[in-house]
Amino acid sequence: MERVARLVVLVSGSGTNLQALLDEIAATGTGAYGAEIVAVGADREGIEGLARAERAGVPTFVRKVKDFATREEWDAALAGAVAAYEPDLVVSAGFMKIVGKEFLARFGGRFINTHPALLPSFPGAHGVRDALAYGAKVTGCTVHFVDDGVDTGPIIAQGVVEVRDEDYEDEGAALHERIKEVERRLLVDVVGRLARHGYRIEGRKVVIQ
Ligand code: GRF
Repeated sequence: MERVARLVVLVSGSGTNLQALLDEIAATGTGAYGAEIVAVGADREGIEGLARAERAGVPTFVRKVKDFATREEWDAALAGAVAAYEPDLVVSAGFMKIVGKEFLARFGGRFINTHPALLPSFPGAHGVRDALAYGAKVTGCTVHFVDDGVDTGPIIAQGVVEVRDEDYEDEGAALHERIKEVERRLLVDVVGRLARHGYRIEGRKVVIQ
């Protein structure tokens, strides 16, 4: 039997990307999908992302920045909590924190993030709003490996979404929802392919084997 990759998913909010992974794995089966979610971590309590994990019977953990004296201590604690589940891949799915040196030393090259814009355009916490403010006609989402910059790591896959005139009326809320529909499918596809086929990172190029 093929080995099933162990995933830890990190969330900060509604967790619909996490839910898409949970649903796909439940529908396909861990063996056929190639991965299972062994834990869900967060930087805050009381979020729907954690509730989704609990409903699915997946263990959860929370490491809040404010509970640690320094950002480095928080980063080390987060890395330790993730490492306890021995993941093959760590997925940042709407996790709104930048991890530090220790986390990247332990999980660099197997830590992926999903971002709601077509990188390298519009990195950072407001990718949807920034694309609208710039007047972009297309935007979308990017699944990429995390490096020590802000949304700068090697790109694995991207999905395109057209901007509509009416998107300016609600500050991008509807646009973000359309991006998230594409993003969830892309993330589910990418994580499964990385897990089933393996991959290598050649400079900026990600090759799925
Ligand atoms: C996604 O669009 C992600 O790219 C962004 O925040 C959103 C998270 O959505 N950083 P959810 O928590 O998975 O519903």
